[in-house]
Amino acid sequence: MRLISSLLLFFLVVSSSAGYSGGTVPGRMRKNPAARHPCKRLIFYFHDIIYNGENAKNATAAIIGAPSWGNRTILAGQNHFGDLVVFDDPITLDNNLHSTPIGRAQGFYLYDKKDIFTAWLGFSFVFNSTQHKGSINFAGADPLMNKTRDISVIGGTGDFFMARGVATLMTDAFEGEDYFRLRVDIKLYECW
Ligand SMILES: *[C@@H]1O[C@H](CO)[C@@H](O)[C@H](O)[C@H]1NC(C)=O
Ligand SMILES: *[C@@H]1O[C@H](CO)[C@@H](O)[C@H](O)[C@H]1NC(C)=O
Ligand SMILES: *[C@@H]1O[C@H](CO)[C@@H](O)[C@H](O)[C@H]1NC(C)=O
Ligand SMILES: *[C@@H]1O[C@H](CO)[C@@H](O)[C@H](O)[C@H]1NC(C)=O
Repeated sequence: MRLISSLLLFFLVVSSSAGYSGGTVPGRMRKNPAARHPCKRLIFYFHDIIYNGENAKNATAAIIGAPSWGNRTILAGQNHFGDLVVFDDPITLDNNLHSTPIGRAQGFYLYDKKDIFTAWLGFSFVFNSTQHKGSINFAGADPLMNKTRDISVIGGTGDFFMARGVATLMTDAFEGEDYFRLRVDIKLYECW
């Protein structure tokens, strides 16, 4: 009886340690993404000029949906809750709005919390330049008040075929309600 139970114990120990020996399978590595290094890293800026009733020529973004208590000219009160903005913003390599754009950031953001500034972003970087051709797709929550926040890189096309990773956003400038500039630090963990 004693022999059987110790054999059983031995078997259990062996089988559970065999389970742990799977330390090199990819599924296990993914548990510690910080230990992985990006296969590609890119840093860009994009510039959002929101239509304010007076800058129609210059604006790159427009409020296309507003709650009943707001309108589509001025972002609503209560942290812009309920506003939906569509944008077609220039992407530049440095933080200068007047630098030659290397692509466009196209998509939308919607403000989705009454008590704090926070938004949800869904957009693509669309490139058609000598350096980059193709697109990178982004999605995720953007807690604007945080100095940096991470959103997901959910895919890509062309030079960025099947891209996956994380993009760290930082508000690089904020001028009134009409202009902001985001720094986007893209870290891809899957490259083809
Ligand atoms: C367009 O808007 C930006 C940001 O508000 C401003 O810096 C720039 O001078 C404007 N350009 C024109 C031509 O109005
Ligand atoms: C939009 O709302 C703002 C205040 O939230 C107001 O000052 C402005 O006059 C409104 N504009 C229009 C076109 O209704
Ligand atoms: C990309 O640029 C080339 C050359 O300027 C142009 O012929 C082509 O139509 C562009 N493609 C897209 C998808 O904009
Ligand atoms: C935002 O910043 C706060 C305080 O610095 C931190 O506790 C929180 O985890 C951050 N949230 C995100 C989503 O980064």
